Amino acid sequence: MELEAIVAVYADWGIGAKGTQPVVLKADRRHFRDITGDAAVIVGRKTMEDFPGGKPLKGRHNIVVTRQNLEIEGAQVVHDTEEALAAAREQERCLVIGGASVYRQFFPYLDLVHVTKIELAPPSDSFFPDLDADPDWDCVEEGPRLEEDGVGYRFCTYRRRRA
Ligand SMILES: NC(=O)c1ccc[n+]([C@@H]2O[C@H](COP(=O)([O-])OP(=O)(O)OC[C@H]3O[C@@H](n4cnc5c(N)ncnc54)[C@H](OP(=O)(O)O)[C@@H]3O)[C@@H](O)[C@H]2O)c1
Repeated sequence: MELEAIVAVYADWGIGAKGTQPVVLKADRRHFRDITGDAAVIVGRKTMEDFPGGKPLKGRHNIVVTRQNLEIEGAQVVHDTEEALAAAREQERCLVIGGASVYRQFFPYLDLVHVTKIELAPPSDSFFPDLDADPDWDCVEEGPRLEEDGVGYRFCTYRRRRA
C-alpha cells in the first residue's frame, strides 16, 4: 500500500496558525472529500477536534493518533506512529490528513502528497516541507490556476522518487 497525504498550503508552505487554518477554500473542502473518498485517514487528535463537531470524519475509517488513553466514537485510537502505520496497512488506501505534528512524523513514510497551493500567505505557525525544494519529490500533476473569491489556487500532486 502506498501511503498518501493531503494538505492545503499557503504560498510559504504554511499550513495553519493557532490550531486552525486561517484561510479555507470551499473548493478545497470538496477536493478533500473527492480525494479521500471512502479511504482511511490518519489524523492527529488536535486536528480531529478542529473538525465540525470535533468528531471523526463520517463514512471512513479514522485512525486517530493520541498519547492519551481515550475512546473516541467512530475512530480507531492509536498511540504511536508504528501502531498507526500497522493500522493503515490493514486498509486498502490510507491518507495522512494532519495536523502539523502528524505530517512531520509520517513524512518519511509518504509516497504521494496531494497539495492544494493557495496563493496567499497569512501568518502560519505550522509548515509542511517545501516539496518544490526537495529533490526527493517530483510534481507529477499540476492543475490549472483556479480562483475562489479572488484567491488563486491550484491542485498539485507530488510523488517521492524511488532509488
Ligand atoms: N493546511 C492543512 O491542510 C491542514 C490540515 C490539518 C491540520 N492543519 C493545521 O495543523 C495544525 C494542527 O497541528 P498540530 O501539530 O498542532 O496537531 P495535530 O498533529 O493534529 O495533533 C497533535 C496531537 O496528536 C497526537 N500525537 C501526535 N503525534 C503522536 C505520536 N507520535 N504518538 C501519539 N500521539 C501523537 C497528540 O495528541 P494528544 O495531545 O491527545 O496526546 C498531539 O497533541 C493546525 O494549525 C491545523 O489548522 C492544516
